Amino acid sequence: MDKILVHGGQSLSGSVRVSGSKNSALPILAACLLTKEPCIIRQVPDLSDVHYMLQILSHLGAEVERASGTVTVRAENIKSVAPYEIVRKMRASVCVLGPLLGREKEATVSLPGGCVIGDRPIDLHLRGFEALGAAVRVECGNVKVFAAKLKGETINLRGKFGSTVLGTDNIMMAAALAEGVTIIEGAAAEPEVVDLANFLNAMGAKIEGAGTRRIVIEGVAELHGAEHSVIPDRIEAGTFMVAAAIAGTRVTLRRVVPDHLKAVSEALIQAGYGIETSRDTLTVVGNGKPKPLELLTEPYPSFPTDMQAQMCALLSEGEGISVITESIFPQRFMHVSELKRMGAQITLEGASAVIKGVERLSGAPVMASDLRASAALVLAGLRASGVTEVNRVYHIDRGYESIDDKLNGLGAQIERVKV
Ligand code: UD1
Repeated sequence: MDKILVHGGQSLSGSVRVSGSKNSALPILAACLLTKEPCIIRQVPDLSDVHYMLQILSHLGAEVERASGTVTVRAENIKSVAPYEIVRKMRASVCVLGPLLGREKEATVSLPGGCVIGDRPIDLHLRGFEALGAAVRVECGNVKVFAAKLKGETINLRGKFGSTVLGTDNIMMAAALAEGVTIIEGAAAEPEVVDLANFLNAMGAKIEGAGTRRIVIEGVAELHGAEHSVIPDRIEAGTFMVAAAIAGTRVTLRRVVPDHLKAVSEALIQAGYGIETSRDTLTVVGNGKPKPLELLTEPYPSFPTDMQAQMCALLSEGEGISVITESIFPQRFMHVSELKRMGAQITLEGASAVIKGVERLSGAPVMASDLRASAALVLAGLRASGVTEVNRVYHIDRGYESIDDKLNGLGAQIERVKV
């Protein structure tokens, strides 16, 4: 198991290329199951979560080829059962349910594992499948969905914590091959949902309204092969933006969609940093320590929950008191106890972290507990005194392509050590 040593105090500058989006690539790869014809997906990031998805597709019978960032999937003959051994490592494996149900009219998928960020149910996905006419059984740790045929319906996917991203993806994929028109109300409007809808439309689906709260899907009899380039990863980009704020003078991100990063940009501007954008680049101009902020995580286009831990790291060193409240995953604060081991002064009050900025964090051995939490610990180490030792690095490799090399390219001093 690797660990990462961050030698703090180096200043970051220069430019870094952002990889393709993990959260787009996973459902888009799953969507390749919807057709017998080959699909070519470009800008697929080299991440362990992507490897798990490719393993799942192979297990289901698809032929998968990968040449650098391009993946070709041929799902000519598939089966519809994904057992625990292959889905347990990643929660996003749940997004094969929609395409399998759409194409085979049945799917059995073990209930997935993944990030330990509180209770993560899939009730809304199942409610959507039922609305399309499928029967749902949950037994022996498996979800089984099956239908004689799927029929379009109006479905409200809004839950207690807002819309569901993978739930919207799953219903869009199943409904693409249903009879008649499906309307998803309370749909997730994240850019990754739009990216999936664009790919499905390239395969011959008829989907309108992706990116809004109301998506209309007119079912078609079959889908065909297509080519697609995955959008840039806005969370990886946001993580580098925060790294630049913590330790940078002037850092430029290449291959980004600045529009997808508005909420993060606004937060950094409010905290005192400069942001410059062009069509596909974004530059963060450093300005020392942040001014205190009040942030609330909410569905897109508001501030993303996937950037909450990194902002905690930024605001831990600074002046005044900041408050970050989680409205999506109220228990997503596992990084807080680790940041406190580095000297951060943070108290948890319900779903809020109250952060009293300190002069400087100090390096310490810390434990990564989920993907974004581990990124936050690496970022915290960038300006901390001494060495920050981040253990359980496999979490970070699930969602960041060579984060150590990319940060070193900007001037950081990070070592990866095999333990
Ligand atoms: C996706 C992202 C993840 C991000 C999250 C929220 C992927 C692979 N992952 O996860 O990085 O943090 O969106 O932006 O795209 N919920 C229910 N019932 C359900 C489904 C969800 O109550 O059936 C709740 C969840 O517990 C959570 C909220 O709805 O409180 C949003 O979750 P959801 O959007 O579904 O997250 P994911 O799609 O799993």
